[in-house]
Amino acid sequence: QMTREELENRVIEIKKQLGSRLFIPGHHYQKDEVIQFADATGDSLKLAQLSAENTEAEFIVFCGVHFMAETADILTSDNQKVFLPDMRAGCSMADMADIQQTETAWEKLQELFGDTILPLTYVNSTAAIKAFVGANGGATVTSSNAETMVKWALGIKERILFLPDQHLGRNTAADLGIGLDEMAIWNPMTNALEYVGDVSKVRVILWKGHCSVHENFTVQNVADTRAQYPEMKIIVHPECRREVVELADMAGSTSYIIHAIEKADPGSAWAIGTEMNLVNRIIQEHPDKHIISLNPHMCPCLTMNRIDLPHLVWSLETLEETNNIIKVSPEIAEKAKLALERMLINS
Ligand code: 13P
Ligand code: SF4
Repeated sequence: QMTREELENRVIEIKKQLGSRLFIPGHHYQKDEVIQFADATGDSLKLAQLSAENTEAEFIVFCGVHFMAETADILTSDNQKVFLPDMRAGCSMADMADIQQTETAWEKLQELFGDTILPLTYVNSTAAIKAFVGANGGATVTSSNAETMVKWALGIKERILFLPDQHLGRNTAADLGIGLDEMAIWNPMTNALEYVGDVSKVRVILWKGHCSVHENFTVQNVADTRAQYPEMKIIVHPECRREVVELADMAGSTSYIIHAIEKADPGSAWAIGTEMNLVNRIIQEHPDKHIISLNPHMCPCLTMNRIDLPHLVWSLETLEETNNIIKVSPEIAEKAKLALERMLINS
């Protein structure tokens, strides 16, 4: 068993040895013990852009979750290998839409609406879903370009199918002035479309998926915060429920949240509704501001947290082995890339 110091020294040594042959991207939700070694940090969009731009690293050790590593593999060339330090670092939301369910939904929706639907998928989805979307003319979206991409899609077709996060889809559509009566929700458990009113008015078909971390921020949390700290600004991630986003002062991606707090006046007060590691880091980096988690119990993303310092070291020590390589099959990757590229040129 190595001590923390020994583990840290090992990472430093390997990074020095490999130089630009190694690239470590880190998502903002990663633990401090890991993020300190990231060559670049970012939200999902930035990490996808960086992967697409990086042509020289042979080894990309992705500190984030499975779908992010898949995206990096799709956007890099064949001689670049992408590693995920713990293969169990998935995303429960991405697992809420599988390809069979999506194909079943698509068939039923075509019967109902004909060829009037363009599929969009949040990047928090499997490569197979991205491939399905790419093959059907659609694109991926992230929380920082969802509005642009929904507008883009509704400029092409009358309707969209938005996979797999109902909250990001609903929040984005609502921000664009689309009414709740123009939104329906596909339930993959019952294979049924749930809607209110006239089905022909439906323009946005949401998928019944959600993030179990962000669903922990509630209307009650907002009310409690407002009661205790009337002057506090509330900023949340758009994976939170509609009611919470509506009551918050601001909503946006992880990078948006970071920048908003950086720009804020010293002495200002903030309650943040997003993953715990990021909230704690923002608190530490801004001792001049009063910052709390919108949910006082703090909400960790358990799968993001599977990537810890021992896993990072182990992964770096085994780059010549195939254990943790994320490799999307060429047929899937080719189609998924279409969906990702349609997003990247629009962002
Ligand atoms: P961002 O794109 O805002 O970084 O979000 C990624 C994510 O998984 C949020 O739960
Ligand atoms: Fe997935 Fe939610 Fe974790 Fe983001 S916070 S990786 S959406 S489970």
